[in-house]
Amino acid sequence: MPRWPKPPEGSWTEHYPELGTAPMPYEDSISPEYFELERKAIFGRAWLNVGRVEQLPRTGSYFTKEIQAAKTSVIIVRDTGGEVRAFHNICRHRGNKLVWNDLPREETSGMCRQFTCKYHGWRYGLDGQLNFVQQEGEFFDLDKQDYGLVPVHCDVWSGFIFINLAAEPEQTLHDFLGPMITNLDGYPFEKMTERWCYRSEVGANWKLYMDAFQEFYHAAVLHGSQSPAKFSAAAQQAGFEAPHYRLEGPHRLVSTSGVITWELPGDMRKPMEDITRSGLFGPWDEPDLGMEKMPVGLNPAGCDPWGLDSFQLWPNFTILIWSGGWYLTYHYWPTSYNTHIFEGNLYFVPSTNARERVAREMAAATFKEYGLQDASTLEATQSMLESRAVTAFPLCDQEILCRHLHKVAADWVEDHRRNLAGA
Ligand code: FES
Ligand SMILES: [Fe+2]
Repeated sequence: MPRWPKPPEGSWTEHYPELGTAPMPYEDSISPEYFELERKAIFGRAWLNVGRVEQLPRTGSYFTKEIQAAKTSVIIVRDTGGEVRAFHNICRHRGNKLVWNDLPREETSGMCRQFTCKYHGWRYGLDGQLNFVQQEGEFFDLDKQDYGLVPVHCDVWSGFIFINLAAEPEQTLHDFLGPMITNLDGYPFEKMTERWCYRSEVGANWKLYMDAFQEFYHAAVLHGSQSPAKFSAAAQQAGFEAPHYRLEGPHRLVSTSGVITWELPGDMRKPMEDITRSGLFGPWDEPDLGMEKMPVGLNPAGCDPWGLDSFQLWPNFTILIWSGGWYLTYHYWPTSYNTHIFEGNLYFVPSTNARERVAREMAAATFKEYGLQDASTLEATQSMLESRAVTAFPLCDQEILCRHLHKVAADWVEDHRRNLAGA
């Protein structure tokens, strides 16, 4: 029998009275003025995940990250002491973007001993120090000590690199993440180094795509045609109910119970799933993670059967851990009030033979199909929200995380407004 904790009484939503149950406005997703506030109120203040330490394997490894919401570009680099550091990607001479390849607006990565500006050749060490000025004697009282790269606060948790663009972050990264996230300490993220990536510009506000991935109320309907007819019919009839939701500070979690695909009747599976022994829930053959015990933060409610935990880290980052021993990340990088860049990454323990490689590819291809279906409604939703023909929308109990995301955004924007007014 399935076993999972339900709220002692009432609904999930009513357990968080601050959320209310009233229909929600979506003005925060269609207002250019609101987005202008979000830039500083959210993206200029929160810790933002920009990648993983495996992207910086050795001294001099670097990558750049375009943070359009905060109107900057950041260099993340491993310095000679092995530390991960971050700097604004701007040359101190006359403001050229320091690190870029063929196209100045595109992100890049590589390895180097120092950063050389393409404009007049100033050079900076991996620690940000200005080391060389072309024709230094032509300048006036220029002390190279005063012209290092502008640092950005940077910290690492469980191999995830975070930056904070505030002059002084209000919280340390550890405090910002809070126990719901840091209780994942010890999960072997570092063993899952086979990475599959998708990236796409989406014509919708960043919060709308987050909403699409933080409720599963849509799953049986929107993804109905993705499964064999018999499975879809059964899924639609059953509807969907997540066994556990949790809100902690600005972050959110939904756990789902699992379907053991290979135990379903044959006509409820796709032939490709049987051939590749894989599908949406990942490869059927689980890797040996070499762990006696999972961290307490994983499946914290003890759902049994357990399918996945989707941790929504404020503001724009998701870590989704599957029971089958692999994980996904999503990032949503706003580029305007009604566009953003979506990045989806799948992480596996590296395959050791062709069968495992094919199983991972099947999971990646299936994920892409589902992601495209999720994205397909977004531009349609954005355009009609912008009509303002309807201005309040009823959300059900399974959409509690959507309610929370928009509330947290509003709280941070309000906070920022108050600070501005008090300043
Ligand atoms: S702008 Fe970089 S060296 Fe002149
Ligand atoms: Fe979906």
